[in-house]
Amino acid sequence: MSKVDVLLGLQWGDEGKGKAVDFLAPNYDIVARFQGGPNAGHTLEFKGKKHVLHQIPSGIFHPNITNIIGNGVVIDPIIFRKEINALQPFDINPIQTLVLSNKAQLIIPTHSLLDKGLEQEKGTNKIGSTLRGIGPAYQDKVGRYGLRVGDITEADFKAKYNKLTSQHVAMLQRLGVAVDFTAQESEFFESLEILKRFKIQSTEYLINNAILNGKSILAEGAQGTLLDVEFGSYPYVTSSNTTAAGACTGLGIAPNKIKNIFGIFKAYCTRVGSGPFPTELEDEQGNELRRLGNESGATTGRPRRCGWLDLPALNYACMLNGVTQLFMTKADVLSDMQRVKVCYDYEINGKTTKEFPFQYSRMHTAKCRSIGGWSLAGKFTFDSLPENLLRFISEIEHYTRVPVQMISTGPDREDTIIKPN
Ligand code: GDP
Ligand code: IMO
Ligand code: MG
Repeated sequence: MSKVDVLLGLQWGDEGKGKAVDFLAPNYDIVARFQGGPNAGHTLEFKGKKHVLHQIPSGIFHPNITNIIGNGVVIDPIIFRKEINALQPFDINPIQTLVLSNKAQLIIPTHSLLDKGLEQEKGTNKIGSTLRGIGPAYQDKVGRYGLRVGDITEADFKAKYNKLTSQHVAMLQRLGVAVDFTAQESEFFESLEILKRFKIQSTEYLINNAILNGKSILAEGAQGTLLDVEFGSYPYVTSSNTTAAGACTGLGIAPNKIKNIFGIFKAYCTRVGSGPFPTELEDEQGNELRRLGNESGATTGRPRRCGWLDLPALNYACMLNGVTQLFMTKADVLSDMQRVKVCYDYEINGKTTKEFPFQYSRMHTAKCRSIGGWSLAGKFTFDSLPENLLRFISEIEHYTRVPVQMISTGPDREDTIIKPN
């Protein structure tokens, strides 16, 4: 039966999307990324090996699946080439199974320099960007200056590139950033030759024809709902729509084609970069979560800030995305803790609320309750999970009114428990 399902993050990214997409991919004909770019780091683990993907969809290790980089993505050809090279030792043929939208925007070397310059200019208010050029590339897209993947074979590509680069150089000079990118520029043009070997087309037709022909599609989100440019903790967000709506604009899929929305979240919260984080633990317990959860960024290696599960924020994300099923990861990280905390409300100016605030400041408090811990030593089915973990799950289901359908208990594909229907 034909269908489009969307899998996306409900927190500040790094919820385990890569693992979940890789696990679910055999149920689909196509896996497609719809937004973001090399700011993403999606980790997959199987057969004792760990893989980190940045722009390539997480269905790539399944040889019978078509993987699409959609029009909503911003692509850095230099990073793309590195990712393709890293796939070489494996028994897959990305030239055959990976298709790029001709409308995806290109990240050029000056975009990353601009990212750096703009962050420096913000000083203590910096966003904590991954500095992969994401913001400047999306800025050029909406400013209608951007270069698209389909442009690279056009005769005037170099002229367009030079024009855009000279605009960037003027901005970089104003920002006081050293403007030497000769090495990156030659790497960029070499990498374009790799990009040209791939299928580049109007993937909106590929996808919609696949839907007409009864094929199934999994749209893979990057980042998380709380980093969405509209609804996240603005301005401490990324520059794309990370929500379900982004799958429509980022792939050319009409909303009525979407069936399931899988919302993925960690049993606690993490955030990399700056910005509000209501349940953040800035103490020994936060360090403990970071250590137990191995919480350092898959793209930048930065330590992730850690805190308890935030139900008002999770509920907000379920509402914005129309989540039909929840997937919870990292239940194992909380294993063996005496008590686990969960935030049910915020207190803002003496008033209790369940609404995610317009702005969250240190004057606001996350009101938490604690639940007894659990141990995940041994093998479990959904129904045999420890009683306190089942209670934790049912609290989440009660609060969000969305069923928890999958539990992840470790980084490997195999460490996945599905709730029987
Ligand atoms: P993504 O960006 O959403 O794909 O997530 P990342 O790959 O950036 O971060 C998730 C990290 O958690 C990766 O290192 C995964 O291998 C790991 N992971 C995923 N699910 C689980 C889980 O259930 N338990 C544990 N311990 N690690 C997990
Ligand atoms: P995945 O797909 C976690 C964060 C950055 C920064 C903010 C803006 O792996 O979940 P940007 O580079 O977009 O200008 O950064 O967003 N951020 C992520 N945090 N996971 C991600 O992706 C992220 N992509 C961006 O840390 O705070
Ligand atoms: Mg990640």
